[in-house]
Amino acid sequence: MNVVVIGGTGHIGTFLVPRLVEMGASVTVVSRQQREPYVQHGAWKRVKHVNLDREKLEGAGEFAERIRALEPDVVIDLICFTPESNRHLVDALQGQVQQFLHCGTIWVHGPSVEVPTTEAAARRPFGDYGVNKAAIEKSLLKAARQTGFPAAIIHPGHIVGPGWTPLNPAGHFNEKVFETLARGETLALPNFGLETVHHVHADDVAQNFINAMLNWSTAVGESFHTVSAGALTLRGFAEQMALWFGQEAKLEFLPWEAFKATISEQEAQTTWDHIAHSPNCSIAKAQRLINYQPRYSSLEAVQESVRWMINNEIVSV
Ligand SMILES: NC(=O)c1ccc[n+]([C@@H]2O[C@H](COP(=O)([O-])OP(=O)(O)OC[C@H]3O[C@@H](n4cnc5c(N)ncnc54)[C@H](OP(=O)(O)O)[C@@H]3O)[C@@H](O)[C@H]2O)c1
Repeated sequence: MNVVVIGGTGHIGTFLVPRLVEMGASVTVVSRQQREPYVQHGAWKRVKHVNLDREKLEGAGEFAERIRALEPDVVIDLICFTPESNRHLVDALQGQVQQFLHCGTIWVHGPSVEVPTTEAAARRPFGDYGVNKAAIEKSLLKAARQTGFPAAIIHPGHIVGPGWTPLNPAGHFNEKVFETLARGETLALPNFGLETVHHVHADDVAQNFINAMLNWSTAVGESFHTVSAGALTLRGFAEQMALWFGQEAKLEFLPWEAFKATISEQEAQTTWDHIAHSPNCSIAKAQRLINYQPRYSSLEAVQESVRWMINNEIVSV
């Protein structure tokens, strides 16, 4: 089986591509070849690399044809962000592939109503990213159900793994938050610290793409949340990370405007984006239909990532 992974050397591809090779697929990775996978694996020696710049080729109207010319049985699109970009690919691959897997996001949901949020919840996305991803999801489900285009959608939560910085308990990416907790110093959190974040280990995301391939008949025409078994409150996340460092968390709860003044503008924007979504998604559908069994809890995934940062002297404890 020839599997083409578009954007396969990043967070997800690092774990997905070796898994595909292990299951016996011939794998072609499409990227600009500017970056290396985060974790080395001998399976990469068996992978064919094709250097294509999606943005440039889409501008010239050639990207979708170039993917079709690779004669894939399965296309896994990890880097599609607009409905137009998705439409070109679907038009070119109609009747040509056995399966088409799109990487979405749980931010296709806006503010939660009933939690954990299921895939059946009405979409209320906000922000260009979530709005575009929700539009792509809608059009792929329609293509699958109306025209038989064999699409399925995997919606990851916040992706964590060794090699990059995880979303921290203050809802942004400054590594110093982990150092603050490790030293037992006071950490400020917004509001009551009860807004939520929902992580997933990159290898669990990889697992669910494979699950969607192995369970074709229940996957096609469906979308699947791909997150850890449970979201974390910022407060609980901070407390458990402090415990992991052998400390008792010292937390200060500040109203949004006061909290915002304690961090940089960019960090505040990141925190706002995350807590305005406060995702808390159900994995019951993926468990039931495609046998998704995440190996990592949110905390285990973050702790693996923080251990990597400590070993690489990015976080000092
Ligand atoms: N990160 C998260 O927490 C998160 C959460 C939910 C959903 N998602 C979804 O996950 C997907 C991203 O997956 P990821 O995090 O594994 O990606 P990533 O780490 O950002 O990796 C991106 C990959 O795409 C390649 N690439 C980037 N621009 C390209 C271009 N113009 N043409 C060809 N290749 C290009 C990169 O390699 P080169 O640079 O070498 O080209 C790399 O292989 C997105 O669909 C996103 O919406 C992410």
